[in-house]
Amino acid sequence: MPLPEEDLFSISEIYHENTKDRKRVAPIMSKIPQQQWIWYRAFKKYPHKPRVTMEVPAPSASPGLEEVIQRRRTIREFSGESLSLEELARLLYFSNGITAKVRSGDIELPLRASPSAGALYPIELYPVVFSVTGLEEGVYHYNVEDHVLEFLRPGDYREALYEASHRQEMLLLSSVLIVMTAIFGRTKIKYGERGYRYVLLDAGHLAQNLYLESTAQGLGCATIGGFLDDEVNGLLGVDGLLESAVYMAVIGKVLGNSRGTAPQG
Ligand SMILES: Cc1cc2nc3c(=O)[nH]c(=O)nc-3n(C[C@H](O)[C@H](O)[C@H](O)COP(=O)(O)O)c2cc1C
Repeated sequence: MPLPEEDLFSISEIYHENTKDRKRVAPIMSKIPQQQWIWYRAFKKYPHKPRVTMEVPAPSASPGLEEVIQRRRTIREFSGESLSLEELARLLYFSNGITAKVRSGDIELPLRASPSAGALYPIELYPVVFSVTGLEEGVYHYNVEDHVLEFLRPGDYREALYEASHRQEMLLLSSVLIVMTAIFGRTKIKYGERGYRYVLLDAGHLAQNLYLESTAQGLGCATIGGFLDDEVNGLLGVDGLLESAVYMAVIGKVLGNSRGTAPQG
């Protein structure tokens, strides 16, 4: 029986097939020497925007990791109470913060809380603040190297993001929405087209850390894969090509003793 037309032209199958590493063909690796990748590892910064400094958080002892993994759920019921700046700082630091430095030749290489293919760290975090004590509402960028927030754009974007995420109601009482964008070139410089797979895997690792750190702090977290890309990119002011939103998470105080719900829709 012939396959339906859409199955013959599946972009994902063509992409996956064409980005397989094969034994007889050397995987695409950049000819640029490792020393020069440093340029692709550059930290994104907005030097002319106002900064909000944050404490670098120390790890807390309890609860234990396995308990956190067992308790982790997608929480969609929030109370609407504010998060503290310290809670937000912990979420950012324990998902994308610098946790170690190692020497690689004559380079000192910063390593982060989440793993990343080639330690190239393509993911940037943009917290859109709805209700965090001491912070004005609006769009921020997490400057990883300096562990500060850069204030990009004031405003209440809850309604716009509610619309842009197909009216997912959990957004309405959450305290912050964190957009994960990817700067694809950082990873593609080394891995070529296959690097696109790695970028999305990196985002998944980072999102899991957001889930686990939220759980450890007694906060609720729900990741969002379904959103209107152009609207979200437009809000952040990224071009959607070299840098584009790939995943989002809403975080807030949990309503009552909500322990998670079935997916919406
Ligand atoms: C890639 C991805 C995208 C997701 N997108 C959404 C989403 O748009 N809305 C939502 O409510 N949950 C979303 N989720 C959460 C899943 O629905 C949830 O993980 C699943 O129902 C299992 O529940 P649990 O996380 O509580 O174990 C997403 C999860 C992943 C991994």
